[in-house]
Amino acid sequence: MTIMVTGGAGFIGTNLIITWLAQGGEPVVTLDKLTYAGNSLNLNLLPKDRHTLIVGDIGDRELVRKILTDYKPRAILNLAAETHVDRSIDGPGTFIETNVVGTFNLLEEVRRHYGALEINDAENFRFLHVSTDEVYGSLGPQDPPFTEKTAFAPNSPYSASKAASDHLVRAYHISYGLPTLTTNCSNNYGPYQFPEKLIPLMILNGLTEKPLPVYGDGQQIRDWLFVTDHARAIIEVLNKGRVGETYNIGGGAEKSNLEVIRSICTLLDQRKPIGRPHADLIEHIRDRPGHDRRYAIDSTKLSSEIGFNPQMDFETGLSTTVNWYLDNPSWVESVQSGAYRQWLDHHYGKAPLNGQEIDSLKS
Ligand code: NAD
Ligand code: DAU
Repeated sequence: MTIMVTGGAGFIGTNLIITWLAQGGEPVVTLDKLTYAGNSLNLNLLPKDRHTLIVGDIGDRELVRKILTDYKPRAILNLAAETHVDRSIDGPGTFIETNVVGTFNLLEEVRRHYGALEINDAENFRFLHVSTDEVYGSLGPQDPPFTEKTAFAPNSPYSASKAASDHLVRAYHISYGLPTLTTNCSNNYGPYQFPEKLIPLMILNGLTEKPLPVYGDGQQIRDWLFVTDHARAIIEVLNKGRVGETYNIGGGAEKSNLEVIRSICTLLDQRKPIGRPHADLIEHIRDRPGHDRRYAIDSTKLSSEIGFNPQMDFETGLSTTVNWYLDNPSWVESVQSGAYRQWLDHHYGKAPLNGQEIDSLKS
């Protein structure tokens, strides 16, 4: 028996595969395009008889068909996606290509494969689609957290493309009986996260005494979940989830961006002092267009039906994450390519806000 993971060379995929194999799960075949966000080094240390990496696109139907024929996976965990909101605003095309068209092509091949399975294999087969809380849009300060019944209201090309993929997965269950499961998770953090995302970007900028760029007033709120808790939740949903259902996964750790950045600064002050507080590096810059103000997840369904609760509290998780980036300079160097530096220049090259502009954010 084998399971197939798409996007396994990315941040969550890597942590998921490591967790899966450590729990004694079946061998894994990973399909990953190795975009700028995918790193084959992440998976190099896994035992060769328990993990195979195939480099390719989820939208390549011939390749997907061959993998399904050769490996006959009993489950497919779909994590492959373009994932960075700022890049989706800068250039939405690849998001539509991978997250919408790619998911559609993958589903078509999986539907074909599922239709040809023997009864026992078909009963055990699952397609688990990993998605995001961003499909639900933005909350006001007093709004209740997102439940699985909250209406979709995506605000960025990224979240719209993920919402489209969620709808396709739902439709393939309803129309074709594909045994699907969908998870919608809040913001992850931890080892192996590409340093374009808030937490690793702040850690690495802080370490090299570069500005810490805060969008707008920094009072936007995210619900943070340590990545191995997300991995464990996905595995539990695969094992115990009801076919056709969606499950929200959250960290129960709502924090404003400034709170998170200040906590990182305190950890860096202790671990790598620079003669002044790292918080002095904080710089307010122009806000992300359409920036969602608050996300929060109601995980009641996950805890009551599946019995899953996160294990890692935010303070321990953040400290573990900072230590991981300090302890893995060669990994950090391997992901900071020319293309990465180009993105930083392109995205952060503009002047920071002046005092008057910052004051106007407060009023
Ligand atoms: P990531 O950007 O770190 O990794 C994505 C991986 O997908 C990379 O390895 C990349 O090479 C691969 N990929 C991209 N396009 C592909 C294609 N066409 N075919 C095959 N592989 C392709 O992303 P992540 O943070 O690990 O997110 C994984 C999944 O979890 C995504 O679906 C994302 O929407 C979802 N998610 C992420 C978060 C988060 O906070 N990071 C939270 C909730 C849900
Ligand atoms: O909620 C789940 C989502 O979380 C996932 O689906 C996405 O794939 C993942 O990227 C993440 O989206 P966010 O937009 O919330 O994450 P990001 O790390 O880009 O930003 C987190 C917050 O920090 C957000 O409010 C924007 C802000 N931010 C981000 C960066 C990169 C800054 O203030 N400055 C920055 O330089």
